[in-house]
Amino acid sequence: MLKIAVFVSGSGSNLQSIIDNIEQGKLNCRIEAVISDNPKAGALERAEIKGIRTYVLDKSIHKEDFGDKALQIIGEDLDLIVLAGFLSILKGEILNTYKNKIINIHPSLIPNFCGKGMYGRRVHEAVIKAKAEITGCTVHYVNAEVDGGAVILQKIVKVDTCDDADTLQEKVLSEEHKLLCKVLCLIEQKKLLNTPQGVKILEEVI
Ligand code: GAR
Repeated sequence: MLKIAVFVSGSGSNLQSIIDNIEQGKLNCRIEAVISDNPKAGALERAEIKGIRTYVLDKSIHKEDFGDKALQIIGEDLDLIVLAGFLSILKGEILNTYKNKIINIHPSLIPNFCGKGMYGRRVHEAVIKAKAEITGCTVHYVNAEVDGGAVILQKIVKVDTCDDADTLQEKVLSEEHKLLCKVLCLIEQKKLLNTPQGVKILEEVI
């Protein structure tokens, strides 16, 4: 059983997908806490409805010490922290305590359309502006470099000529929901191996 904390900022559709996969028996995981940097995040309500403990560390107050405060809340014993639509930059000791135990979902094919200031709808606007033919989503480990940790898994989404930022966001989001839960399953089944050359996915547990 994977014990996780989920950090959120927005509507929480990725959080919902984790909740749904757990409830459907597809994911052996328990959400111990949901922490939001935004008091108005819809994700908070999604968690509360399910009786999951929620905490707000408002980014207007906790800009620099969000990571430290979050670490005090969750302690050091969880298996994983999942950034699911979390739009602040995580800093501080939490990155060492949870080294290789923090993952993020990003709505593009990293290394394209990522980095500081590139999040949420802005990513899809940039993809449309660049007239890219493909985009997608990425689950990666989190380190001190924004969107710079090792890539775990990516899914390609085709950009159609009729797409705008809204339709693209919808298409990519629906793939994010599947990709994030797929990675959580791989981690729970201990099928990810971190090597200096990158993340390997194991066919069988070794
Ligand atoms: C998602 O598209 C997620 O990939 C993105 O914010 C959206 C949140 O949706 N995250 C980033 O851009 C992080 N760099 P949600 O709140 O409905 O899960």
